[in-house]
Amino acid sequence: MMTQRELFLANARGEKTDRTPIWVMRQAGRYLPDYLKVREKYSFEELAKTPEAATEVTAQPVEIFGMDAAIIFSDILFILEPLGIDLKYNPGPTIHPFLQSPDQVDMYHDYDVEDKLGFVADVLRTTRQRIGDDIAMLGFCGAPFTLFCYLCGLQKTKDFDKAYTFLLKHPKAGAKVLDLLTSLSIRYLQMQIAAGADVVQIFDTWAGDLSEAEYRAWAMPYTQRIVDALKRDGSMVSLYIKNSYHLLDSVAELNVDIFSVDWKTPMAYAKEKLPLKTLQGNLNPYLMLGPKEIVIEHTKAILEEMADYPGFIFNLGHGILPTTPVENMRALVDTVHGYEKVLA
Ligand code: CP3
Repeated sequence: MMTQRELFLANARGEKTDRTPIWVMRQAGRYLPDYLKVREKYSFEELAKTPEAATEVTAQPVEIFGMDAAIIFSDILFILEPLGIDLKYNPGPTIHPFLQSPDQVDMYHDYDVEDKLGFVADVLRTTRQRIGDDIAMLGFCGAPFTLFCYLCGLQKTKDFDKAYTFLLKHPKAGAKVLDLLTSLSIRYLQMQIAAGADVVQIFDTWAGDLSEAEYRAWAMPYTQRIVDALKRDGSMVSLYIKNSYHLLDSVAELNVDIFSVDWKTPMAYAKEKLPLKTLQGNLNPYLMLGPKEIVIEHTKAILEEMADYPGFIFNLGHGILPTTPVENMRALVDTVHGYEKVLA
């Protein structure tokens, strides 16, 4: 029998297996009473920066539901703090000062990632000890474009105009910041892989709000540099873009092993557009709010659609919502694990 980690990695490499592995974006989070109990004692930032506590909540979904992979408990925005950015969560992030004028760009300096973000490597090492060798472990970062959106003051969807305005008015200064975020991200992910991450996922949550031409100018080249650097080391890389339906031809050109599909893109269409990639996804996180029977029905439909596809990892199409009933998470994982493919 394959271990859960072997099953996950076989799918990551694009191999056909008789079962489907699963993990869920935001699987350690506010829908889970066990998480909320730990969270009573720490602010979100303290929780993420205290390795024993972060390890505890990282392990919870593996131990409670039997997830095949653990994603370490952290956040994409910690990489901004050593640039002189004050970051707070309530629960959404606020940043001070925002990037508004090109003179601010000279204040951002490259830094030693091991020194400033070493707590993330500590969480990976203590998590590996806790979950053992048979569960896959994921590290992650934000893609430079998505980090740039938050740096420019994105808090609500409507604030997306801020990053846009900056890039239209100050393209050179914008590119300089995106370059710096790219080189920091490469070293950040290399550190996570050295600390034991089996796969790293790059979250480009906001890139789907760009046209394809804008994606190719402002987001894709930076993601490509990160992916190429990691693939040179032979590492396994996954990419998530929310609202990516119109970007799949571009995604096909990126050398990522895994593409994580949002819930608005039919898996049949993703299979057609990305035949060489492992696909991950894509249950609508809102369906997780309904009766359990609905969760099971839609989960089975995705499993059927993907049964003949080599390289499939079940996930939601975006993070699990805090109002999700715990029984539905259990029903989801049990349905995926109970489904045996009939292999040709
Ligand atoms: O997936 C996991 O379980 C691992 C942990 C994880 C968190 N954030 C924990 C978190 C991961 C992978 C992230 C990534 C992240 N963070 C993204 C990309 C993925 C996505 O959701 O699109 C983004 C855009 C962020 C920035 C961020 N951090 C936002 C927008 C928020 C508020 C969101 C919300 O749900 O309220 C956070 C806070 C945050 N990050 C929480 C968690 C569990 C909630 C904080 C709390 O417990 O109070």
